Formats: sequence, structure tokens, C-alpha cells
Amino acid sequence: MSKSAQKSWQARFSQSADALTESYVESLSFDRRLWKYDIVGSIAHAEMLAEVGLISKADCRAIKRGLRRIEDQIVAGKFKWDPACEDIHMAIEVALTRLVGEPGRCLHTGRSRNDQVALDLRLYVRDAIDLDIKPLLADMQRALVKSAERYADMVMPSYTHLQRAQPIAVGAYLLAYVEQFQRDRERFSNARKRADVCPLGSGALAGSTLSIDRQAVARRLGFAAITRNSIDAAGDRDFITEFLSAAAICAGHLSRLAEDLILFASQEFDFITIGDAFCTGSSMMPQKKNPDVLELVRGKVGRIHGALVGMLTLTKSLPQAYNRDLQEDKIHLFSAHDTLKDSLEVVAAVVPNMKFNRKRLLAATRKGFLDATVLAEYLVGKGIPFRRAHQYVGRLVARCEKSDKELADLSLEEFRKVCDRIGRDVYNYLGAENVVQRYKSVGNAGPKSVAKQLRFWKKKLL
Ligand code: ARG
Repeated sequence: MSKSAQKSWQARFSQSADALTESYVESLSFDRRLWKYDIVGSIAHAEMLAEVGLISKADCRAIKRGLRRIEDQIVAGKFKWDPACEDIHMAIEVALTRLVGEPGRCLHTGRSRNDQVALDLRLYVRDAIDLDIKPLLADMQRALVKSAERYADMVMPSYTHLQRAQPIAVGAYLLAYVEQFQRDRERFSNARKRADVCPLGSGALAGSTLSIDRQAVARRLGFAAITRNSIDAAGDRDFITEFLSAAAICAGHLSRLAEDLILFASQEFDFITIGDAFCTGSSMMPQKKNPDVLELVRGKVGRIHGALVGMLTLTKSLPQAYNRDLQEDKIHLFSAHDTLKDSLEVVAAVVPNMKFNRKRLLAATRKGFLDATVLAEYLVGKGIPFRRAHQYVGRLVARCEKSDKELADLSLEEFRKVCDRIGRDVYNYLGAENVVQRYKSVGNAGPKSVAKQLRFWKKKLL
């Protein structure tokens, strides 16, 4: 049996906690990063308690003074984290009572650690979205928009099934990711709405018989509303699951971008060069320049997706109201938050440091029949039903493949052998540069559409 420090709940127990129990149930080692939220939450709670007369004004002042001292000590790295305290809430309360004496014992009036931790986590999620994730997503979008502007007219092959499809402007390709990150931002804003509701005053699960003023606490902490049902408020963490699902979707987008850039930087594609500062070498092969940063962005997505699955698993089949299982929510929340933050930061730094290789892209657009679709649409313009036009072009492509030609290499006679409606004007349609200029539909991947999209994003982001 360990000589553990007196716990706040010790009075009911005849044995002190086993050392194994103590170290197994503790969360201080990881929830200490909630300290700032625990302190602001406690200050708001103490002020409310004084306002409604549940504690004296003098006690409130002592509590606030003590909490600010603790804050200073933590910031200065001088706070003694006592491993015998189970969690951040006890660590701060014990330190407070040590500092200010009896008033410290009044702080927990009308409150449980269950609503306290729910509050801390809501404050944490709000800040993670406002201070880290959304600004970093905006930085990422700005970096992509700048690059899209730089390469607005450069033509590249696009791919479906990783097979050459149609020619597009590089700008259009980059702006596709700007759209995806925009939806990620919106998802985080949405998740924030659910986090922005104050649970304090829900107690352990049933509320309190004391006349606490929940609205006053919520107002002080800038919450949009207070929770309606104490059982729900103390016992659910779906606002964390929502944060994690937004993070998981966002990480998926990051991973796709990383994967594209890894492929494009390979010698097989050779579409882009990534700045040396964002690559690493090999310990054995002297010639190597590897896109390790981007590979790790792709790899670390595992942590974020893992966090979402972890959280879903953690909350599945939990009996209603608070269960200690919920303590594990922080592991997933912190892991996903840290990983996403770092990955967004590093990818936004890679983007301005990648150069598209005009010569290689030009050569790539010359092969692979990127203009086959435009030829079919040209035939539609000549009054041929699309299905028939598709067949004609298919035949022409097959013919070209046999003689190692591209469509533009065919003579008018060769075209006419397959379809006699083809005229000399067909050559104004063929070739990647002609194709991208001819895209007409709203939102297309050609340079004129890119210019329009750029105007939209610059207004929105810059
Ligand atoms: N450390 C706990 C958590 O993170 C705080 C709440 C503990 N409540 C309790 N009754 N044991 O969930």
C-alpha cells in the first residue's frame, strides 16, 4: 500500500489507494495542459458564487489571488506538479488551499469534477479551433492561392484512375484543394457551435440544490448558451468526436495533397521540384532527395484517424452520464490537435517551396490523348450524337496507338475515313493549349475559370 497523499474523497475509505491504482487512474500527466482553462473556469465559478452569496467577497478575492499565483507559477515553470493529485482539477485545488487556506475549500461549492472537466474541454476545443486550426487552414489556403496565381495558365495533364484524362490549368488543380480546405474550415466552425455551450452547474450529473447562477458563469466565459440537461452535459463528449471527425476529414485532404506532391516530385512524373529545405537524404544512397516531410504528413494521418476511432470506441455503449472512461478523451483530442496543427503548418510551408516544371508538363500534355474528349465534343458541335462521336474518337485513338501518333498528327483524310463531318477546323480544337482555352462550363479547369476563381478567393482570403 502506498503512502499516498490525502485525496479529496479519502474520508469515505478505510484504505489508501494502492500505488498501482494511483498511477493507473491518474490523468495529471496529460491533462495538466488544461490548466489555463481550469483556472479561468474556477475564477468565473468563484465570482458567481460570491455574486449569489454562496461565498464571501473576501473568500472570492483570496481564491482569485491564489489562482493567479498558481497561474504565474505554472507559466514560470515553477509550479510543483504533485503526482499524488489525480488530475489537473485536484492539483490546482490542493495548491490553492495550500496557498490561501480555508477559502480554497469553498471553491468546489456547487461543482463536480465532472462538469468542471466538461467545461475545461469545451474551452480547450473552442481555442483549438479559433487559435490554431482555423487560422492554419486559412494560411494553407492563402499559400495555395498564391501558388495557383503563379501557375494560373500553366497546363498540366489531369488524371482519373491515375491515367491521363484531360488537360487542365495548374491553377485549377491547386484551387481544388483550396475548396476542400474551405469546407474543412466550415466543418470546424460547425463543431465549434456545439462546443460553445457551458456545462458548468451540471454537477456530477444531477445539478445542485444550491442557487447557483449558471448564466452568469457562461457569460463570463463567453459561451453562447448553457446546456439544458445536466445528465447529458456532464456525461457526453460528442463535441470532441465532432472536432475529431472534422480533423479526420481535413487530415484526409492533407494526405491526398501530400500524396500528389510525392508522386509529382518523383522522377517518373518530374512535374514539381520541392525545395531542399523540405526534403531529406539517404544514409546510404548519395543521390537521394526524398520527400520525407510529405510522407510523414501522409503517415501521421493515422494518428488523427486513430483518434477519431478511439473516441468513437470510447463513448460507444457507455452507460448514460459520467464514467471514468471519459478521462481518455483527452489522449485522442490532444493527439489529433497536435498532429493536425503540425501537419497544416508544414504543408503550408512546403507549398510556396514547390516549383512546377513547365517543360516537363508541356511534354506530358503532348502524350496520352488528352484532347480525345474535346474531339468528341467537336463532333457534337457538328450534329453527331455524343455516343456515336465517342465511338468515332475511340476508333481514331486506337488507330493512333498503332502508329505511335497523337490525334493532332492525323491528316484530314485519316480523320475523314472515320467520320466525314470532320473539317480542317478540327486542328483548332486539338492539343492541350487549345483544349484548356475552350472549356466553357461554369467552374471548369481552364485558365479563364481559374482567373475567376482566383478573384473569388483573393477577395475572401487575402
Ligand atoms: N480526471 C477526470 C476526467 O478527466 C475528471 C473527472 C473525474 N470525476 C470523477 N468522479 N472521478 O474525466
